[in-house]
Amino acid sequence: MSTFKSPFFSYRLQGPTTLEGQVSLSGSANAGLAAMCAALLTDQTVVLKNMPDVLDVKTLSELLSHFGAVVTKLEKNTLSICCNKITKTSAPAHLMSANRASFQVTGPLLARYQTVSTPPPGGDPIGGRPVDVHINSFAKLGAQIDQAGDVYTASASAGLQGTRIFMDYPSVSGTQNVLMAATLAKGDTTIVNAATEPEVIFLGNLLTQMGAVISGTGTQVIKIHGVEKLNGCEISLPSDRIEAGTFAIAAALTAGNVTIKNAPVEHLDSLFSKLIECGANLKINEKEITVSRDKALLPVNFQSLPYPGMPTDLQAPMATLLTQASGVSIVQERVFENRMLYVNELRKMGADIVIAGTSAIISGPVTLSGAKVTALDVRAGAAVLLAALSATGTSVITEIQHLDRKYDSLQSKFETLGAKMERS
Ligand code: EPU
Repeated sequence: MSTFKSPFFSYRLQGPTTLEGQVSLSGSANAGLAAMCAALLTDQTVVLKNMPDVLDVKTLSELLSHFGAVVTKLEKNTLSICCNKITKTSAPAHLMSANRASFQVTGPLLARYQTVSTPPPGGDPIGGRPVDVHINSFAKLGAQIDQAGDVYTASASAGLQGTRIFMDYPSVSGTQNVLMAATLAKGDTTIVNAATEPEVIFLGNLLTQMGAVISGTGTQVIKIHGVEKLNGCEISLPSDRIEAGTFAIAAALTAGNVTIKNAPVEHLDSLFSKLIECGANLKINEKEITVSRDKALLPVNFQSLPYPGMPTDLQAPMATLLTQASGVSIVQERVFENRMLYVNELRKMGADIVIAGTSAIISGPVTLSGAKVTALDVRAGAAVLLAALSATGTSVITEIQHLDRKYDSLQSKFETLGAKMERS
């Protein structure tokens, strides 16, 4: 079993709080997880700087070590990964199920070792989350796919062969997985309907630094010219855009005044547009956002969409914000079919939210009251944490291991801004 399963801790928060001050962001968790998998593509060392110190990095390190990788934490936020002695290309369920990013080992292992065998990945229970886009693309690249029970085996004894691939859905990790696999395929690969998320662009930059030949990341058509070998490199992760969004929403919610340093402002247009529509004040500089609010919040409607649309990972925290808007807001989740479970938790605190299919109809403003609630997944956890910050009285949030998966130093960052919270 994983040695990194965190015990089930809780947060106790005393609200309401007005968040004020400055906060510096950590490196992007989702970009970092994909980058760790890319290290499997080379026998040289990959050094990742500005890595967030989060639970998913630990569990993915454990999976990479299982394959024979040497993963070394050089400093709190620097990870070195050397895959020159890979001894296994299959993984047991308990290592794969710790997170979703685990499946991104399959593309690199298949490309470099011509075979890989794993059960499906884990991750938040926010939808069915199939892996058909990944598997169908591997088949297009010439891999033979076999399934026994829930274990997929992909093999390509003669190596992968570049081709043109249309993805049924612009899956973020699907695009990353196939992009990695195609770097070592023979000839040229074109991915059509690729995901355009910033985490895909970062992975493209990393792979290019490793010697891959790639163009078009950040667009829906990515072209890869396969090479024989990739080299090591050292790269620094971009700031976490979802962490940035979480603090921006928290500042608007608590009518605070928060400056978010080293912010990826160029990747947050959809959020900024809705925060401004809600009545928040935004001061946006090249690498810094200040969010404040001095008037009542207005209701807004939005749908979560693939990038550059509103990130699904900010849908739940935005819903918490809209419980305080004067009027009715409609939020539609269009990426994951089961990402509204947090609504029951917000209702325990007094939220007036009705679910209609994959939409939440939120009426406000309501007075939120402290309650015992559960962090059901990473972003559901963020939604209840924000609600607890603005609620009157004491809230206890259980199962905060979900927050530990992707938020680095969450408690100390919120405490710097004035939150009163304890971990137990
Ligand atoms: N999908 C398929 N088939 C596939 C792959 C995806 O139907 O083979 C569907 C999914 O079921 C879902 C939609 O496509 O309905 C989007 O899934 P996608 O593959 O794009 O998401 P992901 O790669 O599994 C990553 C992030 C998520 C983030 C999404 C969307 C990682 C490790 N995870 O997931 O992050 O929500 O992209 O931006 O990068 C989070 O950080 O809380 C989180 C869940």
